[in-house]
Amino acid sequence: MQPTIEILSVDLLDQHRPLVEDLRRLAKGLGLEFGWHYLLDLTWILSRLGEVRGKRIMDAGAGVGVMQWYLAEQGATVYSVDRGSRSDLSPRFRGRYRVRGLRPEDLRPTGAVTLDLLRRGRIKEAGRGILSMASGALGGKDPGEVLVYNQNLMALEDIPDGTLDAVVAVSALEHNPPEDLPLVVAEMTRVLKPGGVLLATLGAAREADWFHEASRGWCYTADSLRRLFDLPADTPDNYDRYDELFEKLKHNAELRDNLAGFYFKSGDNGMPWGKWEPQYQPVGICRPQ
Ligand SMILES: C[S@@+](CC[C@H](N)C(=O)[O-])C[C@H]1O[C@@H](n2cnc3c(N)ncnc32)[C@H](O)[C@@H]1O
Repeated sequence: MQPTIEILSVDLLDQHRPLVEDLRRLAKGLGLEFGWHYLLDLTWILSRLGEVRGKRIMDAGAGVGVMQWYLAEQGATVYSVDRGSRSDLSPRFRGRYRVRGLRPEDLRPTGAVTLDLLRRGRIKEAGRGILSMASGALGGKDPGEVLVYNQNLMALEDIPDGTLDAVVAVSALEHNPPEDLPLVVAEMTRVLKPGGVLLATLGAAREADWFHEASRGWCYTADSLRRLFDLPADTPDNYDRYDELFEKLKHNAELRDNLAGFYFKSGDNGMPWGKWEPQYQPVGICRPQ
């Protein structure tokens, strides 16, 4: 695999239609919605990742997002890392996947979480917790596993050097300022095996790096990405197609007409108040170890 910086074209949706439909089905089944460009990010990363069965893969800045569940379903062992705690992870995920805390404190026992849900009157969710515990006792979950690690990507001290086959990051690393990003990249690189790969998506900037206030994310030029990700100076990029790709994105009916419900509820997000008006476009980084 060669290092690359690639602004993500909306053509990815048609080029990988079966994968896109699988991702949509999975998200729907889990009650998750996609960020406005996430189908592009997920498709680009997964189409480059290849076979994941039996591999150890970190989902960096995972939240409770679709990537980790998709990888687990395909038989990977997923290190789900986020500085936001998932220790009270909903039973709807625990019922379907084998989930563990990397450390005991990373995931509260399903029984304790279920009891809290019952106390708060969230009967349906608590019911899922009870079912999850029963299915755990009976076996029969997917082959993969998700290891929850509530930790900053700058300090992955519980993961030894050279242990992972891949690190993927879906629209997460742009939430780190330029002065911190090299530390994050260095730490993700440390835990990769020789021959492993880092595949990450962030926001692209045409002329100068800038901060998108509403989504609290940085957008970077190709030169900045080469420097921040410590990529070879001759790493190719497609920023010469910036305007053309942006026009196509702005006019893409599939993404526009399927905007997630949460965008319509606030102005504090990547698509303020649900008005389809992309202000940046996603870019993928491929960095082989
Ligand atoms: C926009 S969300 C995307 C979540 C997920 N990747 C998805 O597809 O839904 C970005 C996430 O990255 C996490 N994140 C960003 N920088 C991080 C860091 N340095 N350490 C740990 N988590 C980080 C944030 O906490 C947040 O949950």
